[in-house]
Amino acid sequence: MTLGGVSATAVLTLRARADEHRRPDGWFQDPVAAAWSEALPWPAALERWYTPFAQVKTALRAHQIDRMVQALLTNNPRAVVVELGAGFSTRVRRLGCGSEVTWLELDLPEVMAARAALPEGAGPARLLSCSVLDRAWLEEVPDEPGAQVILLAEGLLYYLPEAEVQAFLTELRGRFPGAALIFDVIGASDFGRSQAISRRAGAPILWAVRPPFEAAQAALGLELIPGLEPQRILDETVAGFGARYGPLLGFGLTQGARIGWFRDRRSGLMAGRLSPPP
Ligand SMILES: C[S@@+](CC[C@H](N)C(=O)[O-])C[C@H]1O[C@@H](n2cnc3c(N)ncnc32)[C@H](O)[C@@H]1O
Repeated sequence: MTLGGVSATAVLTLRARADEHRRPDGWFQDPVAAAWSEALPWPAALERWYTPFAQVKTALRAHQIDRMVQALLTNNPRAVVVELGAGFSTRVRRLGCGSEVTWLELDLPEVMAARAALPEGAGPARLLSCSVLDRAWLEEVPDEPGAQVILLAEGLLYYLPEAEVQAFLTELRGRFPGAALIFDVIGASDFGRSQAISRRAGAPILWAVRPPFEAAQAALGLELIPGLEPQRILDETVAGFGARYGPLLGFGLTQGARIGWFRDRRSGLMAGRLSPPP
């Protein structure tokens, strides 16, 4: 069955990781992503979206999140990780997490059905088949004494109505205060273009964060995590593009990242600890 609408976007991000795996200088090895990508039908609506730049951007995002999770696990190897809108995630395999980590992956029923049909579709993760906005899944997150909670929402939140995301984050703050939350956002500088291309593919991106980026992160109730500050994440993103596209572009991006207008309106990754709701 070919996935459609927002569910199809999981095939796009999977393909980006599979293509990264095939590069001799790739950021990571991911043979399962390569096998799954070959097994799934390619939704024609994604053809114009999947550019070489989209591949690099998506693979870099996955790589940066991998590194962030690794950093959090270095501080405390006992964890409950929940990937929201997980799609065809293979992160738990890429990171080689052992028995100290309980890993849950949640996505819409049609995605989880496609996932179950793939070889080793669940792997070490427990799959939750529902909408992230259906709060019943919160009861499925085990309370493991001494374990940190890490919530990941990669390529998800901007497909959901902004007001519902705000209410959802407030609920998460009440439910998992102190948990780490890592997700990506669309900034004002990218919104128009992202909206146009996602609409054409039948999976419209609905909102962008209001500038400035750092203030938007604080307004969402996220406290800084040492080592995962916005500046450090931005520096790593710029370094990643520089490494892939060469020193000239790297230099241009470094200079651009110093200009307030662009910094404030950038898209990118946010990471923080959920502060208790007011
Ligand atoms: C761009 S894909 C990202 C998938 C995965 N996180 C990755 O990076 O490869 C967006 C994912 O969000 C899922 N999604 C969209 N709305 C959702 C919802 N309300 N509840 C759960 N998942 C949702 C889609 O089905 C899709 O798998």
